[in-house]
Amino acid sequence: MGGIDVKPSESTKPLYRDSSQCVEARVEDLLGRMTLEEKIGQMCQYTKYPKRYEELVRAGKVGSLFNVTGAEQTNEVQKIAVDQSRLGIPLIFGLDVIHGYSTIYPIPLAIASSWDPETAKSAASIAAAEASSEGIHWTFAPMVDIARDPRWGRVAEGAGEDPHLGSAMARASVEGYQGENLADPHTIVACPKHYVAYGGAEGGRDYNTVEVSERTLRDVYLPPFKAAVEAGAGTLMSAFNDLNGVPASANRFTLTTILREEWGFEGFVVSDWNSIGELVIHGIAGTRAQAGMEAVEAGVDMDMEGNVYQTTLARLVEEGKVSESTIDDAVRRILAIKFRLGLFKRPYVDPSLAAEVIQCREHIEAARDFARRSMVLLKNENDLLPLKKDLKIVAVIGPLADEQDALLGCWPCIGKPEDVVTVLEGIKNMVSEETEILHAKGCDIQDDSTEGLKDATDKAKAADVTIVVVGESREMSGEAGCRSTLDLPGVQERLVRDVCETGVPVVMVLLNGRPMSISWPTEHVSAILEAWHPGIQGGNAVADLLFGDFNPGGRLPVTFPHTVGQVPIYYNHKNTGRPPTPLLYTSRYIDLPSTPLFPFGHGLSYTQFDYSNLMISPERIAPDGEVEISLDVKNVGDRDGDEVVQLYLRDLVGSVTRPVKELKGFKRITLKPEEKATVKFVVGPEQLAFVNRSIKRVVEPGTFNVMVGGSSEDIKLTGGFEVT
Ligand code: BGC
Repeated sequence: MGGIDVKPSESTKPLYRDSSQCVEARVEDLLGRMTLEEKIGQMCQYTKYPKRYEELVRAGKVGSLFNVTGAEQTNEVQKIAVDQSRLGIPLIFGLDVIHGYSTIYPIPLAIASSWDPETAKSAASIAAAEASSEGIHWTFAPMVDIARDPRWGRVAEGAGEDPHLGSAMARASVEGYQGENLADPHTIVACPKHYVAYGGAEGGRDYNTVEVSERTLRDVYLPPFKAAVEAGAGTLMSAFNDLNGVPASANRFTLTTILREEWGFEGFVVSDWNSIGELVIHGIAGTRAQAGMEAVEAGVDMDMEGNVYQTTLARLVEEGKVSESTIDDAVRRILAIKFRLGLFKRPYVDPSLAAEVIQCREHIEAARDFARRSMVLLKNENDLLPLKKDLKIVAVIGPLADEQDALLGCWPCIGKPEDVVTVLEGIKNMVSEETEILHAKGCDIQDDSTEGLKDATDKAKAADVTIVVVGESREMSGEAGCRSTLDLPGVQERLVRDVCETGVPVVMVLLNGRPMSISWPTEHVSAILEAWHPGIQGGNAVADLLFGDFNPGGRLPVTFPHTVGQVPIYYNHKNTGRPPTPLLYTSRYIDLPSTPLFPFGHGLSYTQFDYSNLMISPERIAPDGEVEISLDVKNVGDRDGDEVVQLYLRDLVGSVTRPVKELKGFKRITLKPEEKATVKFVVGPEQLAFVNRSIKRVVEPGTFNVMVGGSSEDIKLTGGFEVT
């Protein structure tokens, strides 16, 4: 224990049980008492609490269980670990607490649409409070994978296509889950995933191969992970995918060179579900033993559900193929997190706690607020919205209008459909007593039957306005929820066309987990609200926006293509030598526009904003200098509203080609009518650097264009500065 500060102790209990000692001393003391088998045990994680693991837990062969829920269950199995295993090392209980535990709030893509890190932080902290009240210590979140391909179902689980926005959301979520101190009983440890470049899956097909250059890896895919690590994330999950020939869960370059040596990450790495066992299927290991060796040597500390470490590591150590010090390092990191969480002091949870916390009034209200802040008004022709609350007849049509399950979205944790307020209910809660609501489903989400269409159009015809609620079911996004088309599933577009033909004004509400290709509806309906999968208060939140109790302020964190054929389409692309024009020999399709349907950053409000007075100072800086960019934004409409001020930069000439624009700052602000605010951004090396020809992150001299506006396409003010 050289160099570790050990305090004198009067007590007879072993040093590792003495909470007045520092974490390092306790770890070393405990490690010194463990057999090789017990050490390897800490590196093994299994799902659920089936009786079959009781023996393993008792034998000290399990470090973590996941998917065990409920205070009684977590306490029961914890008791075996604490009271019946030789050293009494508590288990760490993990769970996919992705967007809420019981109070389910909007999916992460929606939370990112708030462009408000405070929303992400507070959502994560509520989730942590609920999960920890039932004995959960660890969430497999946030997913910080950049996703440029909306066919990939897991686009729903992340913050979208942009590294800057993604990093801000990653940081905020980690802070929300972990709070100030992991030992605080209301916090849980975060696990940014899936490290790394999982979102780059070819063809948007889950688990598929990823080929990205080291430059793109460092400029695009790694930054949100780095941000999460800098925010103090205690753990990290290694991904399923093949990354440039070396699967992410056997990739020493990303797991050790970058993560530990470059970034100084001190937490532990858990594999994704059997991603160590899958190294055999990938074909980089001939046997499970070799898979175990590859993974542990690369830097994967815990084996999720693969049972590879359990069955192979001891032998590998005996044969001298893996050194015991590699095992010791992994175990040190795992034990350190257990000590930091205070598990030795407080292994159990008070079973009466959950009732006070879970779905308490504050959490339900917050879920409604998060949902409102996350929704994006995509179109609002002739200011059809907000609607009056005393309309005579409103038709609420569509397979998702009275749907509960879908609103939970992917990874609903322990959330229940019966807790969900549907859009129909939300609208009923909102309108005047005199307003008549006509409801028809019209069709199912996915099947092809057109039987219900007539009923739906009859009701639409009779109404003053029709709200058509369409989109995707819960299973259509999330893990393995990949699609080859982005169209509205089933006959839903036909339903939209039919209600449009009635001539009654149509508002389309989308409930979905990814960008959708909605070109026809965009041209023909009067208004579109992107509500995503908004969680248990989704219906009330939709009504708040449609009827003007809340002014929409969300913005797209992903590009919406016209059709799937444009994918991948993202705003921060390179220029090419032949940027698209109507001319033939340019980078374009002959049968599709070159621009998206809705650009990154797009979103409307019921009020308008004026931009003025762009100031850039100084206009010349050294590579390590900083520029302050400020501007004024004024609410020139007639109601309170939120604007998301977005700062984009373009580095005009580089030693390698640079994107046509990159988000480098954003701020969501609330202004009253006539109110004006000055928004300031500071950009320095962090924002200006990129990976050059020699794979070094540098700021290169040259001219930077400055673009500020309300979306990546709606640029209101421009300027520039020089790096000399
Ligand atoms: C997913 C992870 C998840 C894990 C545990 C895997 O299949 O890829 O995102 O955390 O299961 O449920």
